[in-house]
Amino acid sequence: QTFWAVVPAAGVGKRMNANRPKQYLELGGQTVLEQTLARLLQAEVFRGIAVAVSEEDGYWPDLPIARHPQIIRAPGGKERADSVLSALHALAGQAATDDWVLVHDAARPCLTITDIHHLIATLRDDPIGGILAVASHDTLKNVQGESIIGTLDRSYIWRALTPQMFRYGLLKSALQTQQGNPAITDEASALELQGWQPKIVAGRPDNIKITRPEDLALAEFYRAQQTL
Ligand code: CTP
Ligand code: MG
Repeated sequence: QTFWAVVPAAGVGKRMNANRPKQYLELGGQTVLEQTLARLLQAEVFRGIAVAVSEEDGYWPDLPIARHPQIIRAPGGKERADSVLSALHALAGQAATDDWVLVHDAARPCLTITDIHHLIATLRDDPIGGILAVASHDTLKNVQGESIIGTLDRSYIWRALTPQMFRYGLLKSALQTQQGNPAITDEASALELQGWQPKIVAGRPDNIKITRPEDLALAEFYRAQQTL
């Protein structure tokens, strides 16, 4: 079987409120994006890694990893899903319909090699694919205005992480069909709307997405704890 990685890295990092997109902030002596790509490369399973980078991005060309033979640059899109679709198009000449694609956020530099291998080992014989996720520990409330109108049954609630692993052809057609639909906040949701039921694979809770300023220090802390 052949495995590809897709890394959406074309966001502006609005909630991070920094002087540059968060994927270019410093983490452990390199940029967040370099640390994320290094983890994917260390897994030694991908034939290629397509990275969606904004066309106005002046930081990417300065990264040595931009010239790595396994890295393929694709233009970023308006929304995350558009960036992912653009990266899938960049693989069109090389990837076969049944090949696996693992989509992983540039902003998740704490992904472990063990979780990559665990996801692949669990799903490699699945017809569709699935995602890393963690069970929700907080009690979740259904709210209308300022009032609680119910409590969700937590045993049914998981938080979606990345990588999200799907067959190339299926993922591309689902994202194409759902293009412009604001309900598509991850790859799995696009497949769900096409009637598929992606699998859930328990991942590590330290695989956080750097979203707000305090997350950078948290990522540094988690990475220092990890043995990979
Ligand atoms: N992303 C992308 N293209 C976009 C928007 C987001 O490739 N048009 C990427 C981001 O670079 C990030 C991942 O998708 O690696 C997850 O998105 P998010 O955490 O929302 O990042 P940003 O959109 O950059 O942040 P914000 O929403 O706070 O602006
Ligand atoms: Mg965003």
